[in-house]
Amino acid sequence: MAFVTRQFVRSVSSSSTASASVKKIIVKHVTVIGGGLMGSGIAQIAAATGHTVVLVDQTEDILAKSKKGIEESLRKVAKKKFAEDPKAGDEFVAKTLSSITTSTDAASVVHSTDLVVEAIVENLQLKNELFKRLDKFAAEHTIFASNTSSLQITSIANATTRQDRFAGLHFFNPVPMMKLVEVIKIPMTSQKTFESLVDFTKTLGKHPVSCKDTPGFIVNRLLIPYLMEAIRLYERVSDGDASKEDIDTAMKLGAGYPMGPFELLDYVGLDTAKFIIDGWHEIDAKNSLFQPSPSLNKLVTENKLGKKTGEGFYKYK
Ligand SMILES: NC(=O)c1ccc[n+]([C@@H]2O[C@H](COP(=O)([O-])OP(=O)(O)OC[C@H]3O[C@@H](n4cnc5c(N)ncnc54)[C@H](O)[C@@H]3O)[C@@H](O)[C@H]2O)c1
Repeated sequence: MAFVTRQFVRSVSSSSTASASVKKIIVKHVTVIGGGLMGSGIAQIAAATGHTVVLVDQTEDILAKSKKGIEESLRKVAKKKFAEDPKAGDEFVAKTLSSITTSTDAASVVHSTDLVVEAIVENLQLKNELFKRLDKFAAEHTIFASNTSSLQITSIANATTRQDRFAGLHFFNPVPMMKLVEVIKIPMTSQKTFESLVDFTKTLGKHPVSCKDTPGFIVNRLLIPYLMEAIRLYERVSDGDASKEDIDTAMKLGAGYPMGPFELLDYVGLDTAKFIIDGWHEIDAKNSLFQPSPSLNKLVTENKLGKKTGEGFYKYK
């Protein structure tokens, strides 16, 4: 018994020493790659919550537009947050902007960053090339995260030698407004990396949820099949199922959704929806929820991509 007790005490104390030595990384310096819709939002909220941020994109012109967009967005936040004190609002905007520097050369800025958040275009080859290069230049402790919506995090992480320091951080659009972040663990993600990212999302004022590296993670895995089902219901309209207007009205008034599925598809972009469903279909062609849709394909071929082109399922001109 004494032996068992001694063994137990030894094993507990050695495991507590081990967990004490596995200190989480407190993210202070963030490098955001991609200054588009998502990257700008991520850079904005990281800077607004006291992080030092470097925002990277391909050209100075794009970065100038990103910074202008961030400033406009910050002014809106400041107007609400400091409604009674415009001077404090101006200071908040100036201080946040001063925490963001920009660069067109990712490799030259990652040597001392704690976290790289990648938000470049949804293209596996480009993401692989980027991370493979950054892997050589980033500090040993640096965590890599991708904001991909539809690619497998594992297939992106495979380009690096730091799979234990790799995970998904899936933000939602518009980033400053949307509270949720999905933190995606691949099998190789260490507990230390995972917990460091969860803490980071909390410092951003977001609500993290955890998910394995499964197509669509949580939100899109439920949302995309729902949107595709709505299109299939509409495609059966000649058999008398329902019109798109009635489907939208039904989901708003009957299910309490803020937008109907066709309004949401047009808002997200029909090319994005097609890209996601085609990718899943490639992975699992037998899954009835992942079947492509003739009417979605037709609209995309006609460049009717939704709100951004003035026409999708509905007309906006
Ligand atoms: N738009 C959304 O609603 C949304 C939501 C969640 C996640 N995502 C994901 O976030 C990522 C970015 O999406 P987005 O909507 O911001 O795209 P976007 O097209 O608005 O921005 C992408 C930016 O990446 C830049 N870029 C491309 N290659 C680069 C490189 N090699 N190095 C540096 N910059 C590069 C482009 O110049 C562009 O400014 C995608 O992976 C997408 O799947 C998008």
